[in-house]
Formats: sequence, structure tokens, C-alpha cells
Amino acid sequence: MTTSAGTTSIGTTPTGTASIGTASTDAPPLDAPLLDHLYVHGYSPHESRRLGDQADTLAEILHTGTAYPAGSKVLEVGCGVGAQTVHLVAASPQAHFTAVDISAASLAQARARVTAQSPDAQVTWHQADLFELPVKDAEFDHVFVCFVLEHLPSPQEALAALRRVLRPGGTLTVIEGDHGSTFFHPDSAYAHAAIDCQVQLQHAAGGNALLGRQLHPLLTAAGYERVEVRPRPVYADRSRPALVEGFTRNTFIAMIESVREDALAAGLMTPTDWDHGLADLRRTAEPDGTFHYTFFKAVAVNP
Ligand SMILES: C[S@@+](CC[C@H](N)C(=O)[O-])C[C@H]1O[C@@H](n2cnc3c(N)ncnc32)[C@H](O)[C@@H]1O
Repeated sequence: MTTSAGTTSIGTTPTGTASIGTASTDAPPLDAPLLDHLYVHGYSPHESRRLGDQADTLAEILHTGTAYPAGSKVLEVGCGVGAQTVHLVAASPQAHFTAVDISAASLAQARARVTAQSPDAQVTWHQADLFELPVKDAEFDHVFVCFVLEHLPSPQEALAALRRVLRPGGTLTVIEGDHGSTFFHPDSAYAHAAIDCQVQLQHAAGGNALLGRQLHPLLTAAGYERVEVRPRPVYADRSRPALVEGFTRNTFIAMIESVREDALAAGLMTPTDWDHGLADLRRTAEPDGTFHYTFFKAVAVNP
């Protein structure tokens, strides 16, 4: 995907490290509505909160095994509001991070979040399109990408483009979900239909909410080697109240709820059937309900 968003830096690290690219700390953030077509969930405060809840709740499940050596240069692509960045810097406090997003407004939130939680973190913030990163070839030792490829019409091209900035022998870590991995109790055809609305809307926006299962073939086709994909399941029942609240309610159900108007406007469900589906979905977070979802985490080497 190419956009006209440009490659303007939004500043420096908290410790003052110069940012790569065109310094422009006073550049106005891109207007969120302009970018909404790039990201099916949009850039609202509600979505920022949802991304934070998601990352914090899933940190142990998703970030276990990801730690970068002291002094290594790590690029996080599509950092959004910094929800994953805070966990990356906590696990690798001596690594040097560069965090990139196409949305200046999200980057500003990311910077505030990381500065508040880890004031000593070494992070350079950069507004850029991942297809046109203004950095030298082989600049980074490692690249981290979480929940970004699923929103791109050409994820394989994105993975190939990231090889340019990754040194030979460097690693790429990719995390994606797959809505087809969702099952729950009590089961409900209406709830599955509501989830399928999200899958269809994301597809219509050029993305793929079923991308997790494709990570291995995509990485292989993009030229990576030693590709390893591991499922990271999330299962929530009353014995795990933090997951019921943080994942089932505040991450997954909140995501489906957020597409109500778009789903109805597209005629994908009637309002009555939608409300039935959402009521059934909320039922899975009640004390006698259960919920399952699988994320996929890939690590691959740039030959
Ligand atoms: C679902 S959010 C994920 C944010 C973060 N990685 C997380 O897990 O919380 C996807 C992010 O990718 C960014 N994005 C989408 N297309 C991009 C592109 N071509 N270049 C850079 N960032 C992009 C969006 O602006 C958005 O912030």
C-alpha cells in the first residue's frame, strides 16, 4: 500500500536522540478521518483504549520469547498508540527501538504512553509508510510487526519491503490474529454471523481478518528463511477473570461492537439479528460462558 502520508518524523527520543528523516516536531497530525480507510477499526479514543487493553491483557501470551540483545537496533512497524511498544521496551531495556506508524496522531499517543511508563526507554519515533521507510538498507537487526499485515491489501509485498531494512541474518517477528479460530460456549449462529460481518468489512477495506493461518506461506514467499509459526491460544472462563474482562469483553467483543453501524449500513445483518448476535457474544463472558481465540506468532530470518 502506498499513501501520500509522507515520511515526516515527529520528534526525538525522550533522551534526545536525533530522529531519522525530516525533523518536523510542529507538523500537525494527519487528520484521523483521512486515514480511517487504511485501518478498519479507525483511530478513535475508544479504539486507542481497546488496543491498550488488548496489548496489556495479552502481553504474557504474545510477548513471551521476544527479547532483543543489548545494543541491538529494533524496528517496530505500525506501532499505533504504542500498546505493544511498552511491552517491547520492558522486555529489552537495552535495545534501541525505532517505532514507525503512518498516523501522526497515533504516534503522538504512543510517545506519551511509552514516556509515561518507561521514561528511560530508547525509542525514536517516526511517521512513515512501511512501504517507503526512509532508512538505509540493512539498518536494523530485528523487525517487529503486530496486527498490521491484516489491514494491508498486499501483506506479502509488505514483508518483502521490510527485508530491505533488515540486515542479513536479522529476524522478523510477526503477530496476527485469525477470526476463524473463534469458538465459544454457549455457541450461537447469530454471534458467528456478527463476527463474520467484521471479517467481510475488513475484506472490503482491503484487509484479511483470517491472516494468521497464512503467515508461514506469506513469509516464505517473501523470501524469509527458518520460518517458525507458533499458535498462541487465548482461552477465557470464570477461572481467568482478567482474561474474560481484558480479552473477551474489552478486546474481542468491543471490536465486534465497534462495526455495528458499518455492518448494518452494508446490509450484512438486520438490526434485530445483530443485537441477537451481540447479546449471545456477551453471554460467553458470563460466569457459565467460555471463549477461545488463537493468535499466530512467526519468527523468520532474513537470508
Ligand atoms: C491494529 S493497529 C496495531 C497497532 C499496534 N501494532 C498494536 O498492536 O497495538 C494497525 C496500525 O498499523 C498502522 N498502519 C497501517 N498501514 C500502515 C502503513 N502502510 N505504514 C505504517 N503503518 C501503517 C495503522 O496506522 C495502525 O496504527
